[in-house]
Amino acid sequence: MKNLVYVLDFGSQYSHLITRRIRELGVYAELVPHNFPLKKLQQAQAIILSGGPQNLSERGALRVSKAIFKLGRPILGICYGQQLTAFELGGEVRAGKTSEYGPMEIKITKASPIFQGLRPKQMTWMSHGDQITVLPAGFVTLAQSANCRYAAIADENYKIYGLQFHPEVTNTENGQKILANFIKISGAQKTWQLKDFLEKTTADIKKKVKKDTVVCGLSGGVDSSVTATLVHKAIGQRLHCILVNHGFGRLNEIEEIVETFRKYGKLNLRVIDAALEFQDALRGVTDPEQKRKIIGGLFIRIFEREAKKIKNAKWLAQGTLYTDAITSGVSVGGTAAVIKSHHNVGGLPKKFGFKLIEPLRELYKDEVRQIGRLLGLPKSITERQPFPGPGLAVRIIGEITEEKLDLLRAADAIVREEISKSRESVQQYFAVLPSIHAVGVQGDARTYGYPIIIRAITTTDYMTAHWAKLPHELLERISVRITNKVRGINRVVYDITSKPPGTVEWE
Ligand code: XMP
Repeated sequence: MKNLVYVLDFGSQYSHLITRRIRELGVYAELVPHNFPLKKLQQAQAIILSGGPQNLSERGALRVSKAIFKLGRPILGICYGQQLTAFELGGEVRAGKTSEYGPMEIKITKASPIFQGLRPKQMTWMSHGDQITVLPAGFVTLAQSANCRYAAIADENYKIYGLQFHPEVTNTENGQKILANFIKISGAQKTWQLKDFLEKTTADIKKKVKKDTVVCGLSGGVDSSVTATLVHKAIGQRLHCILVNHGFGRLNEIEEIVETFRKYGKLNLRVIDAALEFQDALRGVTDPEQKRKIIGGLFIRIFEREAKKIKNAKWLAQGTLYTDAITSGVSVGGTAAVIKSHHNVGGLPKKFGFKLIEPLRELYKDEVRQIGRLLGLPKSITERQPFPGPGLAVRIIGEITEEKLDLLRAADAIVREEISKSRESVQQYFAVLPSIHAVGVQGDARTYGYPIIIRAITTTDYMTAHWAKLPHELLERISVRITNKVRGINRVVYDITSKPPGTVEWE
């Protein structure tokens, strides 16, 4: 098959992001297990080997068939993929003297089509302990960093390239240009568009569902709204949307969502008030993973209960994205680590009475927004910030109580109002309430209240993120407003952690 790139998955958090970046270049790419059959690999015009959490020096480290290097296809190895390329072709890989994590400058030491159009010094994103110590025959060094002699390597005769850094993350300043150069080397043509995905997915849903009915949990966020609209496009009124009010929404959230969809007018929507049920189930629970699992389980039980009242409801449509699946430890090759169980993936109970439809499972947030626009959804939905399914339950660290929920709702409304008004370019911002107390002095008296954490990030794909450099005046305004207006909060702090090492949410 022409114009197809296969990405072999060795379990990196960024594996799917590579396919996504290639698709952005207009070329169809697919993530496949690291041991994908050679015969199928032959259909691809180019092959990319992803990074992975393992070290080649460990026993049982994932390997790749040497034969793939003889297929005559251009190959790009990234991080672990680069080390594996060198290792399988007779080079040597060892634990490096110094690990490299984070931004690292490389110096291009030899001209190559993979670096075409780039200046000799480039900022890249590294994340590795092992590194190549001896190159295989036929390979040359293309770039070095202070701690890594083989930051980029190639055997240009066979069009085999290796990069120790990650070109797929936006922290590598010209990562996309490097991937574009690789695609150019492969000769693949730009024939892929999201519109094709829309048509194909609608047809697939029709075929799968036949005459059955589908239930969709609508939260009002981009993912579930786009999922519902997509399924509605495929099967019309046989889609029943259910908005479960778990009681962990932000200030006026449910009312605003209902109003938006009432105006939009197409979907068949019912609101189920289950706040007390969720509160009961979470009483005394402090562990974040347990919270997520209880919430995920209860959501499904409620859908099952409601679906019994609907004729032929055999399917549950969910707005699961690729990022939800990967952070929950679900990778194509089953090799990724669990970071947190998103309520709709790792939080799902093992058995439930539905077959799942997850049309967005291959996509990233900004692709979903684009599909929403193609489907004609209003801007208030397509441009909406992400809000985790478990809501404020994972923004209150530790046990959830009515008192903490009220405090967080009030403080969060101020944070969102002020940052939105400031028009700063920030992709997600909210408040978090830790379950600790701090001493303060308010009105000449000692107080012993909760702190509030402001979290604000800039990102393109939510896989990596920077903390937003908000102006001090803005932070001060937020702090003064919260401590004056929200009785019970006596301190405001700003989270200055990027992702990694933090995650966007605190739980
Ligand atoms: P993390 O915290 O994993 O968040 O860095 C990345 C993005 O995902 C959102 N998020 C969730 N979305 N269900 C969701 O639908 C969840 O359980 C969940 N947890 C995190 C988060 O707000 C951020 O945008």
